[in-house]
Amino acid sequence: MCGIVGYIGNKQAYPILIKGLQRLEYRGYDSAGIALLSEGNLNVYKTKGKVSDLIRFAEQQDIKGTVGIAHTRWATHGEPNTINAHPHCSQSEELAIIHNGIIENYAVLKESLIEHGYTFHSQTDTEVLIQLIEYIKKSNNIDLPTAVQLALNQVVGAYAIAVIEKNHPDLIVAARKGSPLVVGIGDDEFFLASDATPIIEFTNQVVYVGEEEIVTLRRGKQLKIRTIGNVEKTPEVMNLEMTLSQLEKGGYPHFMIKEIFEQPKTLSDSMRGRVNIEENNIKLAGFIDNKEKFLNAKRIIITACGTSWHAGLIGKYAIEEFARIPVEVEYSSEFRYRKPVIHTDDIVIAISQSGETADTLAAVELAKSKGAFIFGICNVVGSSIPRNTHSGCYTHAGPEIGVASTKAFTAQVTVLTMLAMMIGKEKGTLSHEQYFKIVSELGRIPDKITQVLKQNTKIAELAKTFTYAQNFIYMGRGYNFPVALEGALKLKEISYIHAEGYPAAEMKHGPIALISQEMPVVVIATSAGMYEKVVSNIQEIKARKGRVISIVTEGDVVVSNLTDYSISIPDTEECLVPLLAAIPLQLFAYHIAVVKGCDVDQPRNLAKSVTVE
Ligand code: G6P
Repeated sequence: MCGIVGYIGNKQAYPILIKGLQRLEYRGYDSAGIALLSEGNLNVYKTKGKVSDLIRFAEQQDIKGTVGIAHTRWATHGEPNTINAHPHCSQSEELAIIHNGIIENYAVLKESLIEHGYTFHSQTDTEVLIQLIEYIKKSNNIDLPTAVQLALNQVVGAYAIAVIEKNHPDLIVAARKGSPLVVGIGDDEFFLASDATPIIEFTNQVVYVGEEEIVTLRRGKQLKIRTIGNVEKTPEVMNLEMTLSQLEKGGYPHFMIKEIFEQPKTLSDSMRGRVNIEENNIKLAGFIDNKEKFLNAKRIIITACGTSWHAGLIGKYAIEEFARIPVEVEYSSEFRYRKPVIHTDDIVIAISQSGETADTLAAVELAKSKGAFIFGICNVVGSSIPRNTHSGCYTHAGPEIGVASTKAFTAQVTVLTMLAMMIGKEKGTLSHEQYFKIVSELGRIPDKITQVLKQNTKIAELAKTFTYAQNFIYMGRGYNFPVALEGALKLKEISYIHAEGYPAAEMKHGPIALISQEMPVVVIATSAGMYEKVVSNIQEIKARKGRVISIVTEGDVVVSNLTDYSISIPDTEECLVPLLAAIPLQLFAYHIAVVKGCDVDQPRNLAKSVTVE
């Protein structure tokens, strides 16, 4: 996590860097800092807290300069205070660094630097790296790019770094391994950032820095890339398709609610060019290009974290139902370390909104090394996971800024459903009749989401009733079980209310003991999928005086009468219910968090892109 940004050119760097940090704040917001080179000085300003705290502090200082680097932090080494905030300076105060990642062998390096007379002020691994760069630079009397290269050869861990030098105001040296880094190329200027969002305002020409590559940005010169192993690389310039309006709140109070309301459009975008309603057909290039692999797969392993893992569970239900291929869904963090059995005829599907989650990336590498075919389902175009998989599909949900994932989740479920249907159709395990029915229903989903969103005010009112609660249980069965998990996660993440998701029938194996008036229960009880069984589960809760909020299908009276509050969603095919049922749960979590005064877009201790283990 952590966001890094840099600028070198003819403009004033400060406003560009600050705006860039604000765009990257979703990556971490424990502390923020900036370093600027101006008139022979290296000015470093940093503070605990958010970018807004940095602005308050920095604007009292000298913020001139046309070259600079800046950082927003999610703490790994050392508590989130001002001393541990980035940028960090070298002993001579001639060099400054920003860093996203972890230097694993920092303790050994630190010890040897102490022996060479270096002293340390912070508890960070990053300070060790900048001291090492300075030590190598001074003791070999070499330039900064070479010193960075030699230092990185001694480092074990993950990093995206940018370094500037007081006496060379025409230079930024940056490098990456395991953490993302993008360079934007403008007119006689370069931008540098953890993702493209700080750059799009200025240029759509970008270079995604590759693994173990070092980039040298010199004012007025060409971008230079070489590897840590000293091999020259030709920069591959790409065109960004993102627009600026996608990165702004567009009149909404928070990104999260904007992104919830974008879902009719983002799902249409996920299906665009893929679902053809006139021809009643789905075409997913990622599947077509690898058809034989999918048709011959003995097993599919889905690996992901957080919300993406929940989408993976829904994918399992759809793939097993339609394609009759066994599917295992693995937390990437467990999968990567637990010596899993992976065969060469397995397909591993990695799901990730950011495409940067360290554990998922490591799971991909592991599966690749065992000879499996790796398919990525990611949202951020050009991110690390799609670049490290054999093939895949983008979800096309557009930039998701709110830390709690919403539109990316429904887009992931949509792509997985399309994939399951295509495999099933080609294998002959999904009947033509069912295939056609689901294809035409998929086309109606965006409008049906619009209908669900019309209940926003009602859900906001309902949320007010429940802000008192300390705990919640969410229940569902079949396709709605992962939706219950996701609903509970949304509430936990942004309102800090403890919530558990359960398969409804599991309640009687323990959680039912918790039921009382103080423990509200949210039940997804739609008519498609084990309706009667869920009704019985609700009866069991009501018999114990539990307060129940139900998500029901329009026209339902049985569950509506049985439960204390109900929210209805339009009827749809069973496999598509999650796309509708997730919406009221997202809204419910959002409104509870707003009433409680929580920081919805930047919940405490979380970050959107988890690039550390
Ligand atoms: C973090 C985010 C979650 C996300 C998870 C996986 O925890 O806060 O919203 O679901 O990472 O991220 P990914 O980008 O791989 O989907």
